Order: sequence, then structure tokens, then C-alpha cells
Amino acid sequence: MGRKLVCLCNLVTEKEILSAIRDGAVSLHDVTELTGAGESCGRCRPIIENMLNEAAVNAEPNAQGRLF
Ligand code: FES
Repeated sequence: MGRKLVCLCNLVTEKEILSAIRDGAVSLHDVTELTGAGESCGRCRPIIENMLNEAAVNAEPNAQGRLF
């Protein structure tokens, strides 16, 4: 993890995308604006969307089972 390239067209790593999400990106459009990932062939877009979904799920308090 980290140095793995997610967007081959624009040489954007997993780490850069996670950093964009931490900085407030909540949509594919946001990630593309911040990193350039996904603005060419689009093959990486489903991966980016998965990362956004995972980040959203992990942000839910219930995902950790901490409320009960
Ligand atoms: S691999 Fe990301 S736009 Fe082509």
C-alpha cells in the first residue's frame, strides 16, 4: 500500500488519493480535481470510487461497533 499506482495515466498513487480523501475529497470529481487521477482513460475511476466508499464506511461510528 502507499506507493501502489492507482491511476496509470497520470501516475497517481494510492497514498495520494488517500491523502486527498483525508483533505476532504468526497467524490470522484473532488479526487480528480486534487490529484488528476481519473481524468484520462477512466479505467481507475471504479477503484477511486471504492476507496471513497471505504473511507465513508470507516467514518461511520457503527462501522467500528463503538456505539454499543
Ligand atoms: S488510469 Fe486513471 S485515467 Fe487512466
